[in-house]
Amino acid sequence: MQVESVRVVYATKTKHSKKIAEAIGSALKAEVSNVTDRPRVEEVELLFIVGGVYGGDSLPELLDFVRNLDGDKVQHAALVTSCASKKHRQEKVRQILAGKGIDIVDEFLCQGSFLLYKWGRPNKRDVQGAVDFAKGLQETM
Ligand SMILES: Cc1cc2nc3c(=O)[nH]c(=O)nc-3n(C[C@H](O)[C@H](O)[C@H](O)COP(=O)(O)O)c2cc1C
Repeated sequence: MQVESVRVVYATKTKHSKKIAEAIGSALKAEVSNVTDRPRVEEVELLFIVGGVYGGDSLPELLDFVRNLDGDKVQHAALVTSCASKKHRQEKVRQILAGKGIDIVDEFLCQGSFLLYKWGRPNKRDVQGAVDFAKGLQETM
């Protein structure tokens, strides 16, 4: 069964998550919003949450956004995490979603960079990896 309603939200400091979120939105023909614009999320089957990791944590504005989600309206969430280590996950986002009873279907780790470390990442192939992940979820759910 193909998921009918998909939304993409992101929070970003250095624009990587914006680039990834927009690529996913364009591939899935889904609305893309920056959480700083305080988007209203009504009934949605699959919500993609795209964000980086900073000192091990998500941005405060992303955590606020997730805290304000209505667990009765969001059926599933998928995390797309951009980080230099390619190891850090959006742990706090996960905890908040779990507390609301929102199912987390999967988390994709996309190679990011920090200063000179992994300079130039995410590159085209990294972004395509995130798009393929998102398409796969949309088709298989
Ligand atoms: C201030 C700062 C702290 C960071 N801390 C981490 C970290 O703890 N772990 C990690 O894997 N990457 C870390 N990174 C790398 C970012 O997570 C990575 O560049 C990510 O792609 C940024 O996403 P954004 O451009 O959407 O803000 C850090 C980057 C910055 C600028």
